Amino acid sequence: MVKAGSRASIVGTGKFLPEKVLTNFDLEKMVDTSDEWIRSRTGISERRIADAHMASSDLAYPAAQEALREANLSPDDLDLIIVASATPDMPFPSTACHLQANLGARRAGAFDLSAACTGFIYALASAAGFIASGTVKTVLVVGSECLSRFVDWTDRNTCVLFGDGAGAAVLQPSHGRREILHTFLAADGTGKDLICIPAGGSRLPPTAETLAQGQHTMKLRGREVFKFAVTAFQTLIRDALQECGLREQDVALVVPHQVNTRIIDAALKDIHIPMDKVFVNIDRYGNTSAASIPIALHEAVQQGRLKEGDVILLVAFGGGLTWGSVVLRW
Ligand code: ACO
Repeated sequence: MVKAGSRASIVGTGKFLPEKVLTNFDLEKMVDTSDEWIRSRTGISERRIADAHMASSDLAYPAAQEALREANLSPDDLDLIIVASATPDMPFPSTACHLQANLGARRAGAFDLSAACTGFIYALASAAGFIASGTVKTVLVVGSECLSRFVDWTDRNTCVLFGDGAGAAVLQPSHGRREILHTFLAADGTGKDLICIPAGGSRLPPTAETLAQGQHTMKLRGREVFKFAVTAFQTLIRDALQECGLREQDVALVVPHQVNTRIIDAALKDIHIPMDKVFVNIDRYGNTSAASIPIALHEAVQQGRLKEGDVILLVAFGGGLTWGSVVLRW
C-alpha cells in the first residue's frame, strides 16, 4: 500500500524510433511536394516509418524496456501500464495488454487512453492521479504511434506531416526530485472533425465503400488546427505558470508537442521564453502524436538539458480537440 496524497516522480524515460527513414526527398517522388515546402511550412526534414510487421505495441516495447532500465526496475515491479495511442494495435484488446504480455509484467493492470496528440499528457496526469490515490506505486506510461498505417500516401496535405515512434516514462511516488507539480487537461469535442480518422470504429465499420472512399486515413483541416494550436500553446503556458506561482523566466525548458515549428515560433512570440529553452526535434521525426513529448523528454534527458531543480513545462494539443500541460520540477 502506498501513502495517499503522494506526488509522482518520473524515475526513468525511454524511446524507440524505427530504423527506416523517409526523407522529404523520398516524398518528392511520391506526391507533388518539395523538400523546401515541407521544411519551410513545418520544420520537418525526415520521419521514421515502422516495418510492415510492427504495430504500436512493438514500438512501445523497447521504449518501455529502456525506461525500466533507467529506473533500475523490472517488469515485475509494475502495478499499472497506460498506453496513449491514436493508432492502437487493434480495437481490443488494448495495446497496453499487448505490451504487458510482451514485457511479462504479470502484476500490472493495463489500459489504453485515447487523446490523440495530447495522449501522453493525459496519461501522465492519470498516472499521477493513481499514485496520489495510494492504490499503485509504479506506473509505466507510454505514448506509441504507428501513424504511417493511417496516412493517405497520395495526399500531400497530410502524408508529409507524420512519423512513427514511441516514448515511455516510469512513475513512482515522489522522493522530491523529477516531480510532477501540476497537471491540466482540457477538451472541446465540438472540434472533433478537425483531425480525425472517420472510419474503422462503430460509427463507420470497414466496408468496401469506406475503403474505396479512403475513410480509414487521417483527415485534417490544417489551417484551422494551426490557429487553435497557437492559442492553445500560449494559454497552456501562461495558465500553468500562474497555477504554480512561477514566472516565464523560471522555466528551464519547454517540451512542446512536436507539431510544426511555425506553430511553436508563433506561440512563443508573445511569451518571454527564448527558443533555446524550447526542445525541438520535429526535423528528424515529424509529428509522432502521443509519442512526440516522451521521445523529446527522453532526448532532453540524454542530452543533459535537465538539471536538478529545473522547471520543465510539457504542453500538447491535438485531435478531439484536446489540450493539456504538465509542470515538472527536475
Ligand atoms: N507540398 C506542397 N504544397 C502543399 C503541400 C505539400 N506537402 N501540402 C499542401 N500544399 C499546398 C496546398 O494545396 C495549398 O495550395 P493552394 O494554395 O494552391 O490551395 C498551399 O500549399 C497552402 O496550403 P495551406 O494548408 O494553407 O498550408 P499551410 O501553410 O497552412 O501549411 C500545414 C499546412 C503544414 C498542414 C499547416 O496548416 C499546419 O501545420 N497545420 C497544423 C498542424 C496540424 O494540423 N498537424 C496535425 C495535427 S494532428 C495531430 O497532431 C495528431
